[in-house]
Amino acid sequence: MEDFLKKINLNKIPHHVAIIMDGNGRWAKKRGKIRTFGHKNAIQSVRDSINGCKILGIPYITLYVFSSENWNRPKKEIDNLMYLFQNNLKNYLEEIHNNNIKIIIIGKIEKFSNWIQKNLFFFQKKTKNNTSITLILALNYGSREEIIQATKNIVKQVNKGNLSIKDINTFSFNNYLYTKNIPYVDLIIRTSGEQRISNFLLWQSAYAELYFTDVLWPDFRKIDFYKAIIHYQKRKRRFGKIE
Ligand code: IPE
Ligand code: IPE
Ligand code: MG
Repeated sequence: MEDFLKKINLNKIPHHVAIIMDGNGRWAKKRGKIRTFGHKNAIQSVRDSINGCKILGIPYITLYVFSSENWNRPKKEIDNLMYLFQNNLKNYLEEIHNNNIKIIIIGKIEKFSNWIQKNLFFFQKKTKNNTSITLILALNYGSREEIIQATKNIVKQVNKGNLSIKDINTFSFNNYLYTKNIPYVDLIIRTSGEQRISNFLLWQSAYAELYFTDVLWPDFRKIDFYKAIIHYQKRKRRFGKIE
């Protein structure tokens, strides 16, 4: 582990890492268990990733917890997932708070139970002055939906006369997204070998580096997180320019 840490250049740390935590179902299946067993074993990977950010000084981490498309899974799996959220959310968010981490929720959380919503709001408020890193949790999140919602709100502001069309640009558009005030994504990590974005932060990661690993999410540890950062640091980010 120390060797890996030594390979990381602390002057070239991404500001915002976003993770598509994929492969829980396959991890469980490999062990002859039902898919929920994989979801239950995902928390240590979350801890390790957040801890990796703290150690390296990465100020923002977004975790894709539940997508707007995930409602299309069998009812039994959804019920199990909601049960898991309901049982662990409070303890886990308390742990986050005790680590001085600020929580921001993105996504249409009104689709979750009142209890879940209440706790998400509560912890968002409770952690708002925390000074360590910011953890953004994407819950019932869909990027296309977010962009449509932003567009509708912009149109409303224009209709009311509060906003002029000439002031709509790539900077001001950010103010209408869930991720308002959060920097763009520098690095997307996706576990489990799938190589796609699955409707995650399309606008915010327009220039992100993409890192795919075959490791299934419940197996993802700090060392895997460091490996992703090392890969990121080897990339040449040109943003359309030439060197
Ligand atoms: C990611 O693991 C967790 C969620 C999307 C909630 P999956 O449940 O997608 O696991 P696989 O991809 O089927 O293995
Ligand atoms: C993406 O994983 C969503 C989350 C990790 C929460 P999925 O497993 O739902 O994505 P697809 O369906 O394979 O693209
Ligand atoms: Mg999956």
